[in-house]
Amino acid sequence: MATTISEKPLSEAIRNRRSTPNFAPDPVADEDLQRILDAGLLAPSGYNTQPWRFVVVRDPEQRANLAAAAMNQRRIAESPVVIVACGDSAQLDGEVLDEMLRLAKEHGYGDERQHEIVRRNFPDFIESLEIAVWLNRQVAISLTHMMLMAEVLGYDTSVMEGFWEDKVKELLNVPDSAHVVALLCIGKLRGPDKPFGGRFERQKTVFFELWGNPQK
Ligand SMILES: Cc1cc2nc3c(=O)[nH]c(=O)nc-3n(C[C@H](O)[C@H](O)[C@H](O)COP(=O)(O)O)c2cc1C
Repeated sequence: MATTISEKPLSEAIRNRRSTPNFAPDPVADEDLQRILDAGLLAPSGYNTQPWRFVVVRDPEQRANLAAAAMNQRRIAESPVVIVACGDSAQLDGEVLDEMLRLAKEHGYGDERQHEIVRRNFPDFIESLEIAVWLNRQVAISLTHMMLMAEVLGYDTSVMEGFWEDKVKELLNVPDSAHVVALLCIGKLRGPDKPFGGRFERQKTVFFELWGNPQK
C-alpha cells in the first residue's frame, strides 16, 4: 500500500478528529506506521526518561484476542493496527538514567556538572512520585503525538481505555514493572463518522491566573 502523499494540516486534524466508530479493513502503510511511531517517540518526557513502551498489534488473530481482553470492543479486532501503550517503571534510576545521560552527552546536551546534578537528584525525584500517575502522564503525551500524526496522515483513530489490564498484560507478555495505559486503534473510517459530542463551555474548564477566574 502506498504511503500518504499529502498531509492534513495539524489544526484540521485536531478540529475534525473523532473517535472512529467503525474501521474498514484497509491497511496502514508500513512507512506511515513508522512515521506515526516516530511521532510518539519524539514526544517530551520528564527528564527525557522515555518510560513509554509500545506493543504494535497487527496480526488479525492477536487483535481478536486483544478485543476479547478489551471488553469485546469490536473496533480493536477491526482496525488493522492497534498500538498498546504501556509505561515501564523498571530500572528508572539505574539503566534508564545511565542511558538518558549517555544520550544527552552524545547529543551535546548539558555538561558533566549538570549530568552529575541529575544523577544525584533523580533517585529522590523518582522516589517521590506516584509512579502509575507519572507513567500515565508520559505515555499519554506520546500516544497523543501518535494519534495526531495518524490523523495528519489521513488515518482515523480511536483511543481505548476499556480493557482488563491483567488480561492484556498476559496476552502480550507485558512485565510486572509495566502498566498498560491505553490502546490506540488506527485505520480508515468505514461508514459515517461519529458525530461531534460537544465540549463544555470554556468558563468551566479554562481559568486565568487563578482557579475559577474566567477570561476578562
Ligand atoms: C483515554 C481515552 C479512553 C477512551 N476509551 C474508550 C473506550 O474504551 N471505548 C470507547 O468506545 N471510547 C473510548 N474513548 C473515546 C471517548 O469516548 C471519546 O473521545 C469522547 O466521547 C469524545 O469524542 P471524540 O473523541 O469523537 O471527540 C476514549 C477516549 C480517551 C481519550
